[in-house]
Amino acid sequence: STRYASSLPEPYESSEDSGLEDEIEWNNLGFQLMKTDYMYMMKCEKDDEFKQGQLNRYGNIELSPSAAVLNYGQGLFEGIKAYRREGGGVFLFRPQQNAIRMQFGAERMCMPSPSISQFVDAVKQTALANKRWIPPPGKGSLYIRPLLIGSGPVLGLAPAPDYTFLVYASPVGNYFKGGSAPLNLYVEDKFHRAMHGGAGGVKSITNYAPVLKAINKAKDRGFSDVLYLDSATKTNVEEVSSCNVFMVKDNVLSTPESNGNILQGVTRKSIIEIASDMGYKVEERCIPIEELLVADEVFCTGTAVGVAPVGSISYKGKRTEYKMSNQLACLKFYSRLVGIQSGIIEDKKDWVVQI
Ligand code: COI
Repeated sequence: STRYASSLPEPYESSEDSGLEDEIEWNNLGFQLMKTDYMYMMKCEKDDEFKQGQLNRYGNIELSPSAAVLNYGQGLFEGIKAYRREGGGVFLFRPQQNAIRMQFGAERMCMPSPSISQFVDAVKQTALANKRWIPPPGKGSLYIRPLLIGSGPVLGLAPAPDYTFLVYASPVGNYFKGGSAPLNLYVEDKFHRAMHGGAGGVKSITNYAPVLKAINKAKDRGFSDVLYLDSATKTNVEEVSSCNVFMVKDNVLSTPESNGNILQGVTRKSIIEIASDMGYKVEERCIPIEELLVADEVFCTGTAVGVAPVGSISYKGKRTEYKMSNQLACLKFYSRLVGIQSGIIEDKKDWVVQI
């Protein structure tokens, strides 16, 4: 609102002297929403294309009570991080991958989607307009959240007549409460995250609210998050509520194969490439839970989560603990990933985009 406008920097105005030093405890960022200055919005009618997006002041949006996203969950989201480097540059990690994933998901959810360049441009604009909110190097990142929603009104079940692409951002640190402590996962065999033919493989908003009940139950018992099994046989590992899962056994890295139920994580994809480059054999395949329980190590990956070692898995009343050490393969993969993101390791793959 214009009431605050005078105290905000203009988008693109360099704001190294952010005025936020006294307001934010950069050392203790968790993963909670912190309202920032600007958000990006772009609209599109059904059967047309997105055009003329713009930055607006961050604030509430107006929606019809009969918006398709509110009534029938026609929506997708994305997550991308912007990092500040020593020396001041700001970088995004593989934003084109998120753009491609949104296009793939939009097709599944009967929505038009922004082009790759519109998506990446919107993410860049949002990061730059909120530059003063990007944490100092090593203290965290600016988490950028693109949304694609059926914003037009419907009553009967049908695709919305119009759509909104929206991008907002918030500074973040560690996703889990315990910081970077190993995760304690609870294997859920009653609730499932995805089913064959469903939308588990795309970043639909409808994949997330249905697992809240399982997450709450696990968190009440002191677990970090929930590991889901496939709904058809209840024997194979799929993923964790907020991230993908990997195991290492005898120098082979394995992760559940993309069978339509597994979210196509950008960090997942990057770790697969990094591990292959480092000489590990990588298998994308069906992983029975019993096999995960005898792995040398288990870890999770995601944009929000990063790479998180798993310390224990509790399944059918039995807790399996994994050996922790600073020699874990996942820590080697993670330090290569962070090295590329922070510029310490040369980015030979064009993964980072300076903005
Ligand atoms: C991400 O890792 O960016 C996600 O979208 C997961 C979400 C549950 C925070």
